[in-house]
Amino acid sequence: MQVMASDIKFIESLKKQWLSMIDAIDDPLVILNKNFEIIRYNKSYWKNVSKNFDLPLDGLKNKKCFEVFANRKSPCLNCHLKPSSWTTETLFPNEIVEVTIHSIESDTDTKEGLFVVHYKFLTEQIHMRQSLSHADKLSALGRMASGVAHELNSPLAAILAFTQVLIEETESSDPHKEDLVQIEEGARRCKSIVEDMLHLAHFERNQKPSEAVDLKKVVQNILRFLEHPLRKAHVTVQLDLPDESPYVWGIPSQLEQVFLNMLSNAIYSMEKMGNGAIEISIRKETDPQITIPLSKEGYWQIHISDSGEGINKEDLSKIFEPFYTTKPVGEGTGLGLSISYSLIKEHKGYIGVQSEKDQGTTFTITLPIYAL
Ligand SMILES: Nc1ncnc2c1ncn2[C@@H]1O[C@H](COP(=O)(O)OP(=O)(O)OP(=O)(O)O)[C@@H](O)[C@H]1O
Ligand SMILES: [Mg+2]
Repeated sequence: MQVMASDIKFIESLKKQWLSMIDAIDDPLVILNKNFEIIRYNKSYWKNVSKNFDLPLDGLKNKKCFEVFANRKSPCLNCHLKPSSWTTETLFPNEIVEVTIHSIESDTDTKEGLFVVHYKFLTEQIHMRQSLSHADKLSALGRMASGVAHELNSPLAAILAFTQVLIEETESSDPHKEDLVQIEEGARRCKSIVEDMLHLAHFERNQKPSEAVDLKKVVQNILRFLEHPLRKAHVTVQLDLPDESPYVWGIPSQLEQVFLNMLSNAIYSMEKMGNGAIEISIRKETDPQITIPLSKEGYWQIHISDSGEGINKEDLSKIFEPFYTTKPVGEGTGLGLSISYSLIKEHKGYIGVQSEKDQGTTFTITLPIYAL
């Protein structure tokens, strides 16, 4: 059969199309022979190799995949080069990868079986799923809390009003006057908890972020407010603030509430130790590595680190839940962080946390930059 030049041209262009399609795939793909030697690979495979080795784009052929891709001296655990699939967290630091092996047609020259290995990075997908289910749980809890709070609001307002009337009408010499004052104080505290719960459920939905807020000013205002508790707990504060004004679009009082709660938590966690240090930094971040509404201008990332008692791994996922608290009864409601979480979400941002028991805790607030 005679092969025409036009046929060759057609096959060449088809091959080019296929190769560019395979190169366009973000997941690393590689074809191996039975000795783990690389026969072909896509660009993403090479990009991942080039994190460890300085090899040219066409320089991977015949190298052992485990040496260049996994930086190992022997095949990876689980990998026996037969059709199979597994997930691993050991291939790359902080990445969960699904590895799938398919066997394909024999190599036409050697008649040996070949294998396609497909690596799929699952980390982002898993984190997104976790944060979605976390957000669902929080919003369900928030709805429940708001229902209870709504019901409590009117009787509480009545208790408070009647107690105040009774206090006014009771003589100072009356032994019951002090009891009434105690009732008023208790009712006030309940009212403030109920208000927090209503806030949590966004009963103030009509209040939307509405002005450019300078985060430096927010931090400075709160630090001024906390001067006394900081001094009392022998806690020092180190600031690392940018020269420019870090503006976000928001509501100053709500952002102040978030910082107030986080710094109060930090002080509380160091109070028992008798001293400690808080570091507050505000930095620009273009890729915050989290699922957050896209911001063309980038993000301001606020880190609040303390050297306090830290949080156990098992408890870390609970701290944003309403009413989760480790404070003694009467000292905390466990609403601070859940309110902060929803407020920052309203500001199109995100709060993350890292903690090491007995070492300290870092909260990271990410907010979209507002360019004036
Ligand atoms: N910086 C921190 N260090 C150690 N533990 C913390 C820190 N911040 C929060 N936590 C833990 O998370 C829990 C929940 O915090 P959150 O602010 O929601 O409530 P709270 O401080 O207990 O009460 P509230 O803020 O309503 O007065 C705390 O009780 C504590 O166990
Ligand atoms: Mg708190």
